[in-house]
Amino acid sequence: MNTKPNSKFLFSVTLLCAFLKSHVSLAADTISENQSLLGDQTIISAGGMFELGFFKPGQLSNYYIGMWYSKQVASEMTVVWVANREIPVSDRFSSVLSIFDGNLVLLNESKTPVWSTNLNSTTNSGSVQAVLLDSGNLVLKAGSSNNTSEPLWQSFDHPTHTLLQGGKLGFNKITNHTQILTSWKNLEDPAPGFYSLELAPDESNSSILLWNRSKQYWTSGSWDETSHMFNTIPEMRLNYIFNYSYVTNENESYFTYSPKNPKIVSRYLMSASGQIQLLRMENSKQWKLVWSQPRQCDVYASCGAFSSCKPTSLNYCKCLKGFEPNQQSDWDLQFYSGGCSRRTGVKCGNAAGDGFLEVNSGSFPDNRQYEGFLSIESCRSACLNECQCTAYAYDNGCSIWHGDVLNLQEVEANDGDGRTLYIRAAASDIKEKRNNSNNRMIIRVAISDHFFGSIILMLSSKSFSSLCKGCSSCYKQLC
Ligand SMILES: *[C@@H]1O[C@H](CO)[C@@H](O)[C@H](O)[C@H]1NC(C)=O
Ligand SMILES: *[C@@H]1O[C@H](CO)[C@@H](O)[C@H](O)[C@H]1NC(C)=O
Ligand SMILES: *[C@@H]1O[C@H](CO)[C@@H](O)[C@H](O)[C@H]1NC(C)=O
Ligand SMILES: *[C@@H]1O[C@H](CO)[C@@H](O)[C@H](O)[C@H]1NC(C)=O
Ligand SMILES: *[C@@H]1O[C@H](CO)[C@@H](O)[C@H](O)[C@H]1NC(C)=O
Ligand SMILES: *[C@@H]1O[C@H](CO)[C@@H](O)[C@H](O)[C@H]1NC(C)=O
Ligand SMILES: *[C@@H]1O[C@H](CO)[C@@H](O)[C@H](O)[C@H]1NC(C)=O
Ligand SMILES: *[C@@H]1O[C@H](CO)[C@@H](O)[C@H](O)[C@H]1NC(C)=O
Ligand SMILES: *[C@@H]1O[C@H](CO)[C@@H](O)[C@H](O)[C@H]1NC(C)=O
Ligand SMILES: *[C@@H]1O[C@H](CO)[C@@H](O)[C@H](O)[C@H]1NC(C)=O
Ligand SMILES: *[C@@H]1O[C@H](CO)[C@@H](O)[C@H](O)[C@H]1NC(C)=O
Repeated sequence: MNTKPNSKFLFSVTLLCAFLKSHVSLAADTISENQSLLGDQTIISAGGMFELGFFKPGQLSNYYIGMWYSKQVASEMTVVWVANREIPVSDRFSSVLSIFDGNLVLLNESKTPVWSTNLNSTTNSGSVQAVLLDSGNLVLKAGSSNNTSEPLWQSFDHPTHTLLQGGKLGFNKITNHTQILTSWKNLEDPAPGFYSLELAPDESNSSILLWNRSKQYWTSGSWDETSHMFNTIPEMRLNYIFNYSYVTNENESYFTYSPKNPKIVSRYLMSASGQIQLLRMENSKQWKLVWSQPRQCDVYASCGAFSSCKPTSLNYCKCLKGFEPNQQSDWDLQFYSGGCSRRTGVKCGNAAGDGFLEVNSGSFPDNRQYEGFLSIESCRSACLNECQCTAYAYDNGCSIWHGDVLNLQEVEANDGDGRTLYIRAAASDIKEKRNNSNNRMIIRVAISDHFFGSIILMLSSKSFSSLCKGCSSCYKQLC
């Protein structure tokens, strides 16, 4: 787009686009001042790696400004960055992405800004332009496009759910700005989901990667500068493919990686199901899963409330008996973290309508509340008489739970390591069979309150070999 656009030009672009259905490229990698992008228009990085424009991830007419690998790289559209994650626009022909007052701004149908690079415009007077680089970094620069000084803003500082080669995961010590990967809600909604990956903000711990859904459930262990890897990820020893680095100085701390062979295309993805995944592009232009952590059933709350996780199953989550998915459409898309709820509500004040589903657990869910040494019958009625009580257990005394019961995991029936948990449900839904052990659902709690211990357990060589078992294609050399 080398013409100097004016309103007449924009008007004709609108008309032109209205008649075209496929993506129309601006045949440029840059949006300059007084230019804008709308409808099917895209910009493409100089070497043709990445493309940026409006996209629609699902069935709804929700459009987002996103960046994806171009068709020459990936056969299926793979979005790696999204600008307006939470505020989609519904008409991409009357919304525009343009440079406005020194910022890159997305205006919706009523010309209200819904997303912006949010720079203090008084500090970047003069013309600015947005350039899409072949690395997948969208940069906002002052002046001419050959200006090599630090960009005013860059998408690498604001990653969404993907860490690209050369991108950063870390934090700036001066501004406190962090680069965190946050999962999408599901495949059709780029709004921030439950799971995130970040560099530990604690200085002394700053080489450990954490995930958070208000709960840490996995860590990489500390960075080892000598072997250039995190010490609990032995897979990283296979770093003949990738160069990993951890950088810390007075201004910032971050983790980054790049392939030793620049022809390799890969990405780290914080998946909506709570796994961190490394994917690599094959010659077939299809992605291949190279590595992922942790195992699906070890993802904190991956099946949501009142459901159990079965590690060997493709549809790994199942609502407990008497419960059904809160959001059936999400479950159909295999996003389970919304969990399940009772088919029939529990009857406060009329406990007669309620019963308990007996489940066998290896350990108990978080947030148990000790009730002391009651008899098992008193323990049961203690729970029954309290509206908010969702489960009880009798194990060296009485414990009850309030609210969601998370992280139940089915195990082999002959796994003797059983503790029994009684989950409240409408009696009519569960038809309690209190003494038929064959009908008893055997489940184990995947993540206990001693989560740090389970992290260590998970990363032990035993669990690593089971990871290999479950993923025959990944790093066969190690298994
Ligand atoms: C953008 O448009 C304004 C007003 O039409 C004009 O003053 C300015 O010179 C233009 N900037 C560029 C880079 O063309
Ligand atoms: C544009 O965004 C503003 C602010 O978010 C909102 O109030 C308005 O309804 C939006 N316009 C349309 C057409 O969606
Ligand atoms: C923007 O810049 C002006 C002038 O440098 C300064 O006074 C103002 O505090 C800045 N605003 C923000 C939000 O940084
Ligand atoms: C390069 O950018 C800096 C600010 O980022 C600006 O001060 C300088 O004038 C620019 N140089 C050219 C040649 O545009
Ligand atoms: C690069 O910048 C110089 C001034 O810094 C300018 O003379 C030249 O035209 C620019 N080249 C391009 C291709 O923009
Ligand atoms: C960054 O965080 C530190 C510690 O929490 C605080 O002392 C400092 O003021 C913050 N800096 C900014 C620019 O917010
Ligand atoms: C990292 O933090 C955890 C919990 O905050 C703490 O138990 C551990 O000792 C720390 N590790 C180091 C190396 O400081
Ligand atoms: C973890 O998540 C909770 C809630 O989502 C948030 O309040 C907290 O700040 C997060 N912790 C870190 C270290 O980011
Ligand atoms: C690995 O990355 C670091 C930092 O980006 C760089 O200094 C170093 O040269 C790279 N090494 C190789 C072998 O590519
Ligand atoms: C830290 O930032 C200051 C100011 O921008 C800069 O002069 C210095 O070189 C930076 N240090 C490093 C190690 O990048
Ligand atoms: C099951 O219940 C029946 C009658 O309520 C009782 O006779 C039987 O002993 C029970 N079996 C077990 C294994 O508890």
